[in-house]
This record gives sequence, structure tokens and C-alpha cells, in this order.
Amino acid sequence: MKDYDSIAKNLLEHCPDPAKAYVLEIGSDAHGGMLQSLAPLVRKVVGINIIGNPSIDAPNASFCLGDIRHTDFADNSFDLAVSYAVFEHVRGIEEALEEIHRVLKPGGAFITTFGPVWSCMWGHHLWVRKPERHVYNQPPHLPPYCHLLMEPEDLRAELEGKHAAEVADEIVKFVYQSDEQNQVHHDAYVKMVKASKLEIVALRSHRNTKLEEAYLAGRDPLESYLERLEKKLGPGDYLSASLSLRLRKPG
Ligand SMILES: C[S@@+](CC[C@H](N)C(=O)[O-])C[C@H]1O[C@@H](n2cnc3c(N)ncnc32)[C@H](O)[C@@H]1O
Repeated sequence: MKDYDSIAKNLLEHCPDPAKAYVLEIGSDAHGGMLQSLAPLVRKVVGINIIGNPSIDAPNASFCLGDIRHTDFADNSFDLAVSYAVFEHVRGIEEALEEIHRVLKPGGAFITTFGPVWSCMWGHHLWVRKPERHVYNQPPHLPPYCHLLMEPEDLRAELEGKHAAEVADEIVKFVYQSDEQNQVHHDAYVKMVKASKLEIVALRSHRNTKLEEAYLAGRDPLESYLERLEKKLGPGDYLSASLSLRLRKPG
């Protein structure tokens, strides 16, 4: 279980007066943990997700089933929109940004942290996938950047003998075809945010050097992967594993 109390506090860190804010939490977790943590800190909070039905024990918190790309909320409803670990899963980022802009009050903020995983070394959330939950914690991991540099059949060959055949098949399918994460690169997120109607107050990208080291152990040096990526896909940020944004609706 994530520490939603500290995630909620971090998301609200720079908000001038969260206790007065009506907040939209985008992509609420299945158990309503984040809604529960946000409730005592804000005036009112509503969560939205395309799936789920969390039970929440707080009078000022509620949940609605819905898609952040097209919601039923009135224009200028919210003082604040927040989300954690969601935007690597949303398909249609531009539509979502447009909708968030619509439902925020002028001067309202959108604060989010997520992983632009597709352009980084691992590219997926395989480790939350059963039965391969252990893949994340027990090296050897998949080859760095395999989703960008290797063909599926080459990855399948690489996994031969390391996993049961059906598990290896499932890993390959998940890495290349899973719709659990979008395939948006870090720089494309930044481009879409810059092109949106929301102003950028802060944009910070972070590497996960510990996980990079684990992926690179016994492999080629990082520079050789970066060279191959640049040759195949062009220049770009292939290292950032998380992106924190603080955006503001002008007005
Ligand atoms: C990795 S989960 C994160 C959940 C939660 N925020 C947390 O930190 O535990 C990503 C969530 O985003 C939701 N999601 C994906 N696309 C969405 C959309 N268009 N509108 C609302 N939620 C969406 C998914 O259903 C999923 O529950």
C-alpha cells in the first residue's frame, strides 16, 4: 500500500490555502486511499477514475466513475486538480489537459507526478503484473530499452530458458502490447504541456539511478544505449523516469 498521506502532503505542498480548496483527484486508487488522505487537508474532494468504486469514510470526499478526457463537471468548478501515477496510463493526454483546463477555476492549479516510462530504460510497469511480480525485485531484469531497441522476437529469444515458456510469452506481450501504459515519450509530454492552455509553473524531471544501475548491471555502458536510441529514434530524454508538473489556469 502506498503512503498516500505523504503523497497527498507533497502534492499540496505549494498550494497557498488547501483548506479552502475544492479538489479533483484524477485516477483515484481502488481503495480510495488518496481521497481519504486528502479529505482532512482540503474543503472538499472528488475522485474520478474510469474504473473502481472505492468506499470512502469522509463526509467531504466522494468518487465518480468517469474519464478525465470528458467529464460532466461544470466549467470553472475546481480550485485544484491533483493526480499521482496516472498520466503514463492516460490515452489522449491533450484531451485530458484541455478538460482539466475547462474544469479548473481561473487561477486554479493542476499538480501531478507520474512516470513517463515508455522513453526510459524499463518502459513498462511489468512488475505490477502477476505472475511476474518478482521481475522487478529480482535481477536479471529485461534488457535496458528492449521495448525501443529490440524486436519482440529478439526479446523472446533473450528470455528463453529464464522463464517458463508461457511466462516469457506473457512478458513479451505485456512489454510491447499492454494498454496498461501509454507509449508517450518524456519529450512528447513536455511538448503537449507547453502547447496546452495551462501555464507551466514548475516542471521537474527525475532519473531513478538506482533502478538504472540494476538494469545496466552486466550490460553495455549506458552511453552505448543512448547512442543507439539517438540513432534509431533521434535525440531525446531517454533517462527521466518521473515527471512532476505544477500547471496553472491563467486568470
Ligand atoms: C497506476 S494507477 C494509479 C492509481 C492511484 N492514483 C495510485 O497512485 O495508486 C493509474 C490509474 O489511472 C486510471 N486512468 C487511466 N486513464 C484514465 C482516464 N482517462 N480517466 C481517469 N482515470 C484514468 C486507471 O484506471 C488507473 O486506476
